[in-house]
Amino acid sequence: MKKKRNVVYFTPVVKPTKNLEVVEEKVEEKIEEKFEEVAKEKAIEIDYSNPLIEVKNLVKSFGDLVVLNDISTNIYPGEKVVVIGPSGSGKSTFLRCLNCMEDPSGGSIIFDGEDLADLKVDINKHREKIGMVFQQFNLFNNLTVLKNITVAPIHLGVKRLRRAQFKNFFIKIGNAFRKEKKPLIESKSKKEIIKEATDNAMKLLKRIGLEEKANVYPSTLSGGQKQRIAIIRALNMNPKVMLFDEPTSALDPEMVGEVLDLIKDLANEGMTMVIVTHEMGFAKEVGTRILLMADGKIAEEGTPTEVFDNPKNPRTIQFLKAVL
Ligand SMILES: Nc1ncnc2c1ncn2[C@@H]1O[C@H](COP(=O)(O)OP(=O)(O)O)[C@@H](O)[C@H]1O
Ligand SMILES: [Mg+2]
Repeated sequence: MKKKRNVVYFTPVVKPTKNLEVVEEKVEEKIEEKFEEVAKEKAIEIDYSNPLIEVKNLVKSFGDLVVLNDISTNIYPGEKVVVIGPSGSGKSTFLRCLNCMEDPSGGSIIFDGEDLADLKVDINKHREKIGMVFQQFNLFNNLTVLKNITVAPIHLGVKRLRRAQFKNFFIKIGNAFRKEKKPLIESKSKKEIIKEATDNAMKLLKRIGLEEKANVYPSTLSGGQKQRIAIIRALNMNPKVMLFDEPTSALDPEMVGEVLDLIKDLANEGMTMVIVTHEMGFAKEVGTRILLMADGKIAEEGTPTEVFDNPKNPRTIQFLKAVL
């Protein structure tokens, strides 16, 4: 049987029958169909067989302030989910929960088979698969561009190498007493790790036409350049999903285009994305599904055409009136 999806925010398009399970499955099929159609129009592939991230009844409070109030949604591989909504509605908090920068107060976030909301789960091994790009770029100003891009993969690679060396030490001791020798854990050398991270970083810099900036410090770059470097820094970890939190809001208008173009390219290459943005034209063009957040809830969810051209929730209508 297919996994259940939260269907509260959709309008069911099937006649009710006595068997609730059948109804839910049919609703689910219709939902996927409409988003699948959008994906087809945009020549994007979405794999609906298994969600990449399952958010179930997510709650996040800061003291008495309930910022996320029972959010449930699935993010499927290849989807471009655009989150819009008024300031303070919890969009950043939602992304921060997905990226384990905030511990949820309730509910669960299933990623790669594990619940990120479970405090016992080692979130570090998941966080490297979730790339995040912030409004304020968050580059390390005391490191060169190249170091900014390579610092995390090198740190992680070396950490893995040390772990392998530690385990191999004990395997070797054990092997001295074993008839059948246990194989040692293979690992790249530190030199290889650094070379690979650097080669990949240079390839990515070349891709965005900034290879000559490899050895300069971020302070010498324009906002658009900084943000594009922040994006490829996240890409250098080979993430399974990219989260963008208003990636163009801090940019001068003439630099918005270059950043959006890079995000569009990644979208077309199949990257799964959750994007918080106020760029409505971009949201319509790139999004395969739009979520409108208001007061910590998903107030409306639908295809770009549904949400932008035919909004149903008064909160959506009010919000779109203010921004369009
Ligand atoms: N660390 C925090 N401590 C207390 N309140 C917070 C914290 N982070 C966010 N909030 C509050 O949560 C609400 C939602 O914030 P946020 O997720 O940033 O909204 P949005 O990104 O939609 O503008 C706001 O009222 C904000 O003040
Ligand atoms: Mg925000």
